[in-house]
Amino acid sequence: MSGGNGVLGIFLTAYRPSVTFLTYGPRRMKILLVASEGAPYSKTGGLADVIDGLPRALQALGHEVAVLLPRYHGNTIRSTLVSSVTIALDDRLRFPAIVEGQAIEGVRHLFVDDPEFFDRAGLYGDQNGDYPDNAERFAEFSRAAVECMKRVWLPDIVHCHDWQAALVPVLLRTQYAKDAVVRSLPTVLTIHNLAYQGVFPPTALRRMGLPDSLFTIDAFEFYGKVNLLKAGVVFADYLTTVSRRYAKEIQTAEYGAGLEGVIRNRADRLVGILNGVDYGTWSPEADKLIAENYSVHNLAGKAACKKDLLARLRLPEENLSRPLIGIVSRFVAQKGFDLLAEIAGELMKEDVALAALGTGAPEYEELFRGLAAKYPRRVGAKIGYDNGLAHKIEAGADIFLMPSRFEPCGLNQIYSLRYGTVPVVRATGGLDDTVQKFVTGTRQGTGFRFESYSGAALLDCIRTALKVFRDEQAWRAVQANGMNKDYSWRASASAYVTLYEAARRSRIPRGVGSSN
Ligand code: ADP
Ligand code: GLC
Repeated sequence: MSGGNGVLGIFLTAYRPSVTFLTYGPRRMKILLVASEGAPYSKTGGLADVIDGLPRALQALGHEVAVLLPRYHGNTIRSTLVSSVTIALDDRLRFPAIVEGQAIEGVRHLFVDDPEFFDRAGLYGDQNGDYPDNAERFAEFSRAAVECMKRVWLPDIVHCHDWQAALVPVLLRTQYAKDAVVRSLPTVLTIHNLAYQGVFPPTALRRMGLPDSLFTIDAFEFYGKVNLLKAGVVFADYLTTVSRRYAKEIQTAEYGAGLEGVIRNRADRLVGILNGVDYGTWSPEADKLIAENYSVHNLAGKAACKKDLLARLRLPEENLSRPLIGIVSRFVAQKGFDLLAEIAGELMKEDVALAALGTGAPEYEELFRGLAAKYPRRVGAKIGYDNGLAHKIEAGADIFLMPSRFEPCGLNQIYSLRYGTVPVVRATGGLDDTVQKFVTGTRQGTGFRFESYSGAALLDCIRTALKVFRDEQAWRAVQANGMNKDYSWRASASAYVTLYEAARRSRIPRGVGSSN
């Protein structure tokens, strides 16, 4: 895989300690992943796929892995491990339980169970927007994570994800700094998306049970507000992002969302590790949700999948011969659909059809509803969340469109490579790292890319793809190039293991286990 070992190679050359630690070589580790969502229990986006695939890959490498999630609506459990953990938030005490669900391929699934906080309609909000008590909810979750480590399962390394778990490294180095059990636990914080930082008014600090003394520029303070991700970035032992390119981008003003300086200060502890794919779930050979399985050796089933997708979206079969552009996305500004809105009229003058699935901002939902109404024979759109349809679009479309303004990793373009659904992407973040430009002459490359964030560049790029589509042999080549790529989790999981070992070494007091 392009993202994993290469980066870590550089990283280890640059940061390998000058001493040799004889007692801390590679060995079986106990690894705890703390995150706010994880498939199959809860999902709003790619984070859930990562919290499903990475732990299983780590377990397969011989480690002992557990995942800690909030227990949301509908999550079934098997047993209660601790019926009440005392969590202090401001002047109130709360008493979540630590419960356990079904282990998945040996990975334990633990939950923080507080129905009042987590048994709600949405994970982070509802139709009125974010829940107003998100700071307290995820402060309780992070505090319960530390208590879970003390009382249920003490790991060798704790790997936290995004702002919702960013408090864990902060707690370990501040309020728990004198706790003999957890104070030296090594921590890794992965930033899946810098657009979400967990920013709250200054009063949130007390509501999370934290002292005002942490409201400083070196901890939570961020332009007069409290920023959870920032504090996590400051206190974690190591930081990762989900592609190499994004690890560089977030150190710039354009992509750093105000945290570029803080991140640059920690650049020596930051590494980009590309997400992997679980091909057991996302491949045309194994997918149980598509009309017919197929592979790079025999693409016949792909035509059946296209037919099925058209029927599902109530589009006529005349589209079977037309290039069908697929979209599966959260509809948020990040994903670049303002560019599509800009060029939709011109695009629809081409001989193309569109299959779109997504939900989010009303203006983008309207965009796709409007296109479906205007071009009922060529545009099918479903507004909503539908995992089955997401798989059908991956398999049934010819082209997969991701014109993102920024994209930390992006999973759908990696899935679509394997399905022979050629990606058209803006060359940013993980899209840049995973899609290589197709060159007709050499028949090398896996997709089509554009650089400048403009409607004209997008339209131009789609037109290039459509031209290649009309050349059947060239199209087979670009499809096969993508289908033959391997982005499975194994290489990325190994890169994380190397990083966990570095984090553990960084926590060993000087002189211990060293040769000098
Ligand atoms: P992000 O995490 O920014 O949303 P990714 O590409 O990393 O982007 O991951 C998106 C994941 O969420 C994929 O598994 C995709 O199939 C899924 N997804 C996004 N929107 C929908 C939807 N409307 N219905 C079903 N699955 C969706
Ligand atoms: C975020 C990013 C996406 C990434 C996913 C999983 O949601 O937007 O690019 O693939 O996290 O890391």
